[in-house]
Amino acid sequence: MDNEKTKTKVIQKMRTGEVKASAIAHPNIAFVKYWGKRHTGTAREKLNIALNKSVSMTLSDLRTYTTVEFGDYDRDQIIMNGEEVRDERVIDHLNLIRREADIDKKAKVFTENNFPTASGIASSASGFAALTVAACKAAGLDYGERDLSILSRQGSGSACRSIFGGYVVWKKSKISSESYAEQLADENYWELRDLIAVVSEARKKVSSIDGMSMTVQTSPLYMARLEEADKNANHAIEAIKNKDFDSLGQTIEYDSLLMHATMITTTPALLYWAPPSVAIMHAVVDMREEGIPAYHTMDAGPNVHVITLPEYTDKVEKRLKEIDGVKSILNCGPGPGAQEVYKHLF
Ligand code: PMV
Repeated sequence: MDNEKTKTKVIQKMRTGEVKASAIAHPNIAFVKYWGKRHTGTAREKLNIALNKSVSMTLSDLRTYTTVEFGDYDRDQIIMNGEEVRDERVIDHLNLIRREADIDKKAKVFTENNFPTASGIASSASGFAALTVAACKAAGLDYGERDLSILSRQGSGSACRSIFGGYVVWKKSKISSESYAEQLADENYWELRDLIAVVSEARKKVSSIDGMSMTVQTSPLYMARLEEADKNANHAIEAIKNKDFDSLGQTIEYDSLLMHATMITTTPALLYWAPPSVAIMHAVVDMREEGIPAYHTMDAGPNVHVITLPEYTDKVEKRLKEIDGVKSILNCGPGPGAQEVYKHLF
């Protein structure tokens, strides 16, 4: 990545002042989850090399929009949803991209989500995917999807999957240069729906970064889940290839419960579920008994993703809205990968 040709391009761009770029990226829902990273010797395992293979669907409608400009600023300035924040993870990520591009200019970053931030709707995935695409472009790095996936992963593991649209696999590897995501099928391949029952828009108390490290260190169930997760990933891939919704749904629900079993048995316990989350899971099982194909899955937060087929969307949505504690429903399908856009936020 770090070759002379790229560097020349960067310098030319800096001279002509073309140092601003924007990108849009979408979150993704993991059908088979990433939870646990390899110890890399760095204090916070910053390389984010997943211990297991994971499978996801990139989501339509929800998005992060980010503009990055490198310039003569005295510090990095980050404006998130209209407020200036000091976010060390964003600064670390800018540093990574500055090292790649061999530049030392500070950056101005404007970023906006059209959905709740850090509440288990994978805002870090869309956030770091959009930041990577915009910052690389602004720094003059003309990277392909694989390199963008590797870089995004170092901001937030799940972000490596949001570089791609549709159905995506993050393969398992021991080394950074081989730990990246690949597209299994694009967003037009199969119209599944993800109805996200929002029960809380509050930021989660324990971040995924801290939570997964605690689980790997303390849950006696972690190793058992690790073996199952790779099998689940292969089942999910087969089910997507065959468009076998029930087989995929069973794997999705099983893998989510398995991951939450390791979270709950972490010391101290990571119980991301709120009372309405449990009510939603019961309702999903009831719906299935009535012949409605729907399966639940949850990330590191109380909101529940209900995966169903398009023809059942209205029925499922109606049922979810009746549950006490459900504040709103976000209705998403398969969405596109991260893309550069040419309208800037500042
Ligand atoms: O990418 P991170 O560090 O926010 O971790 C994501 C973890 C889960 O959302 C729970 C699972 C996943 O694979 O997206």
